[in-house]
Amino acid sequence: MIDKATVQKIKDTADIVDVVGDYVHLVRRGGNYMGLCPFHNERTPSFSVNRRKNFCYCFSCKKGGSPVNFIMEKEGLSYHEALLHLAKRYGIKVEERELTDEERRRQSERESMLVANEWAMRLMEHDLSETDEGRDVGLSYLRQRGVTDEAAAAFHLGYALDRSSHLTESALKAGYQLDVFKRLGLVGTSQQGRDYDRFRGRVIFPILNTSGKVIAFGGRDLKGGLAKYINSPESELYKKSNELYGIFQARAAIVREDKCFLVEGYMDVIGMWQSGMKNVVASSGTALTDGQIALIHRFTDNITLIYDGDAAGVKASLRGIDMLLSHKMNVKMLRLPPEDDPDSFARSHTPEEFRAYVAENETDIIRYKAQVMLAEMSNDPQQRIAAIRSVVESIAHIPDVVSRDVYIRECASLLGISEEAIAKAVAKAVGEVMEKRRRERMRREFPDAAEPRVPPSAQSAYAEREGGAAQAHTGTGAAQAPAGAGGLRAQVFPLARAEQALMRYCVRYGYMPFCSQVDEEGKEREIDVLEFVREELEVDGVEYTVPLYARMAAVLEGMRGDFATAFARERAAADAEAARMRAEGIREIAARDLSVDDIRREEERLGAAIAERRDGRLADFRKDWPGRELLSHEDDEVRREAAELLRERHQLSHIYSREAPAEREEDRLDILVPRAVIELKGEMLDIRLKELMKQLSEAVAKGDAEEEHRIDLEISDILSMRKEIALDMGERTLSHP
Ligand code: GTP
Ligand code: MN
Repeated sequence: MIDKATVQKIKDTADIVDVVGDYVHLVRRGGNYMGLCPFHNERTPSFSVNRRKNFCYCFSCKKGGSPVNFIMEKEGLSYHEALLHLAKRYGIKVEERELTDEERRRQSERESMLVANEWAMRLMEHDLSETDEGRDVGLSYLRQRGVTDEAAAAFHLGYALDRSSHLTESALKAGYQLDVFKRLGLVGTSQQGRDYDRFRGRVIFPILNTSGKVIAFGGRDLKGGLAKYINSPESELYKKSNELYGIFQARAAIVREDKCFLVEGYMDVIGMWQSGMKNVVASSGTALTDGQIALIHRFTDNITLIYDGDAAGVKASLRGIDMLLSHKMNVKMLRLPPEDDPDSFARSHTPEEFRAYVAENETDIIRYKAQVMLAEMSNDPQQRIAAIRSVVESIAHIPDVVSRDVYIRECASLLGISEEAIAKAVAKAVGEVMEKRRRERMRREFPDAAEPRVPPSAQSAYAEREGGAAQAHTGTGAAQAPAGAGGLRAQVFPLARAEQALMRYCVRYGYMPFCSQVDEEGKEREIDVLEFVREELEVDGVEYTVPLYARMAAVLEGMRGDFATAFARERAAADAEAARMRAEGIREIAARDLSVDDIRREEERLGAAIAERRDGRLADFRKDWPGRELLSHEDDEVRREAAELLRERHQLSHIYSREAPAEREEDRLDILVPRAVIELKGEMLDIRLKELMKQLSEAVAKGDAEEEHRIDLEISDILSMRKEIALDMGERTLSHP
């Protein structure tokens, strides 16, 4: 147990930017930070971190919270454990009593596996240097391969003694149950039912996750046995396709260098690390996966593949690149001399030579592929076509049109083909890539392809709407939307409630500064709530369906000129007032009998107070203006609705900050407004989806397979649009002043 004061201290000390920064590559945007969400796989950043509020939030998967929440979620820890984790992170001393047996038993499965792995790692690390066999066999092998003590320590290299039950017996002696070791693959059971150490006689490479926990082991054979390496099996802890060897040791360097080297083997990672290239990870002999790319992408956009220089290495290097390109990574390739792998190259060259080699030989991946293909191209036209096709396909995987265009031009000249021809082929391939992605999505969304069903999320949305409840979507301003949007209006305009929720923010806060955006030329521009909402709707071609809201939106836009004039007048008045107050205040100070120092201090205080008053006055004016104008608008309906929307009947929910006290709505617009937009778009898609589901069941009834296919495609499009709406939003919502 931790005492209250210490809990408070931990909460006060933990800084959300530091804490999240341990896991996510954050980019500063205005007052906020953005990065790729660590809770789901994504390619464009939706994860926003607000230092002032000490709070993070994913616009897409909606996870986030305080530093404590974040750690709980990210590390799978309890509240109590998360506090301890943060205390350790910040060097805060915590007096804690021992866990009781009961509590120990209650520790989750995952934790006990982590504990067992950690214990086994320590044992084998110890045995490497502290036993005769470890030194004679394991350590001497590592020395002979040029591994330094420093590297061995950093990577926690170990040795598993060549005895059938050394680990087994030590574990039992230390009070562990054997089945956890069996699940971890450290202990195997023979056909005769005898338990044995699976990694015996091998040098051990522990595999750590990004937070340094041991999740698996690789063991290298030293005796010329059949399997050069054996690895821990997949388990609760270890999903091979989501992990990379060396990521923990490389993480900081990847962020610092804004670049990650990807190699194939354990020894390659260690070799490069020793030669000072610490931003290096390995995929451990398997083809690169989406999950692994996402892991790297959290820390950097730039990846350089280093494969062995031999022919097999070159082939392997070309395999994962389409996937990397579709993740919007900048991918480069480094080709080593044919006789080398990264490990041998690192050992036979000085770090300076290695760096120089990288600088000189790193090639953009598409260019590299074109060159390789070109070199291999024979005069056989069939082969030529296949090679060009394959380059074209890679280009088609690049999501960005402009970059595609650059490559089209370059490859045209490299391959000696006209730009038009390549461009045409790329355009066609882009269509195919998109079709392929759509199919994959379909398969994911409807694993049982013969019987498409409404996805649960859409189903519940219908149920809610058909129930007619105004509380359909809790947790947003819409939950307490005035009754006017329900009832008859809701029946005629199914989007009325969502539109009203959005209009409410426009009326109440329309001209308040909302975020800064970076335009095409890279210039930052402040936009207000109203502009943000308008742009968000425009991007997806959304218009208000309720004529009243369309009218109000037009009125609010139309008042911009008036507002500018009125605001300028208000500013002049505020400035005049400030000047007057200043003059008065200075006179007063002078009238008092003060020392020179005191006078200066008093004048400073006066200046600050006046500035604060002036800024506050202007902020209030900005905030109140649209509402005030609407309340005196000539259109009866507009006036009445504005009055409704301005009424203070709003009780905020606490779902975003479980611990913080309720905040003012206007301080949380950065979350509330985008959510209202997402809800509106989501509801529109739901309506379309509902229509499609009806059409689909008709098509199925009629046995019209072609129609069915067409509808399936549109459905999967809509499902992916629902996701992308939130993702795009993350990309465009840059900062909150
Ligand atoms: P050395 O041979 O000691 O230089 O090891 P290395 O780490 O350089 O390995 P290599 O380049 O031969 O292979 C690359 C990676 O593929 C290794 O690090 C392993 O992760 C994996 N690998 C290689 N051989 C095997 C094997 O026999 N079984 C398994 N499971 N993985 C292997
Ligand atoms: Mn090797």
